[in-house]
Amino acid sequence: MDDFETLKRYIEQTLKIQCSSYKEDYIKRRLLSRMRSTNSADYGAYLRYLKTNTPELELLRNALTINVTEFFRDTEVYDAIKKEVLPDLFKQRKRLRIWSAGCSTGEEPYSLAMILHEMMALHKDLSAQILATDIDLVVLNKAKEGIFSPKAMVKLNETQIHRHFDKLPNGDFQAKPHLKELIKFTPNDLMSGVPVSRYLDLITCRNVTIYFNEKQKDDLARTFHSALVADGYYIMGKTEYLGRAVDGLFVAKNTAQKIFVKKEPAKTV
Ligand SMILES: C[S@@+](CC[C@H](N)C(=O)[O-])C[C@H]1O[C@@H](n2cnc3c(N)ncnc32)[C@H](O)[C@@H]1O
Repeated sequence: MDDFETLKRYIEQTLKIQCSSYKEDYIKRRLLSRMRSTNSADYGAYLRYLKTNTPELELLRNALTINVTEFFRDTEVYDAIKKEVLPDLFKQRKRLRIWSAGCSTGEEPYSLAMILHEMMALHKDLSAQILATDIDLVVLNKAKEGIFSPKAMVKLNETQIHRHFDKLPNGDFQAKPHLKELIKFTPNDLMSGVPVSRYLDLITCRNVTIYFNEKQKDDLARTFHSALVADGYYIMGKTEYLGRAVDGLFVAKNTAQKIFVKKEPAKTV
């Protein structure tokens, strides 16, 4: 067994991450980034480093799962989006502008597009646009293609698959044009302080800030606050939180699902 195989086996045993479910090229790219950061010359050196530096295990876990996503990730959040957030926003205006920030391979914006398409089919006067962004151009291009393996489709029911995807000859599934038309994919660095757009009604930024320090997270919350309309919604990942310095910018609307609404600063008279 070569050093790469030994390292993979060690990762599978200690982190319980099935390396074999990923493409080898993906695992190698992620390992190389950690090897550079730890000055490890090769896979063998990195394995030795990993065995003697416990904190590196968590950093490696984050590196390996950085692009991980799925359709309707955390079902309850999407239930709340469908039953609470979107109906509330559509009460205020007929056209919504949504930002899926850190969208990875696109499952998040496509999930939102499925919900929106079904609402819009029932109410013809409603419309929406989703701006989906990521810093990683490889995943963003994949998201744009909208092609998903059968494994990626497990959270979708037969009706959703049939309604929103075409089956390709090789067994993969491609998002139908009516979903793609709702989404515009663009690169954006969430650390740049420049929002992809303004006057947004909803921003979802979920499971993105694991590498951000406290200041970067606070700056991001301020950027989102400035990009939202009054009463616009901001949805975070379930394990993410608003820092003390910025929690006054938003009001919790659904604490369990990390759904917030923009709060305007108090007016001074
Ligand atoms: C774990 S995925 C989350 C995908 C999706 N939001 C979800 O919850 O399933 C995190 C994504 O954030 C992106 N990301 C990390 N840092 C970023 C940054 N500074 N600007 C934009 N995207 C970033 C990564 O490229 C990755 O695709």
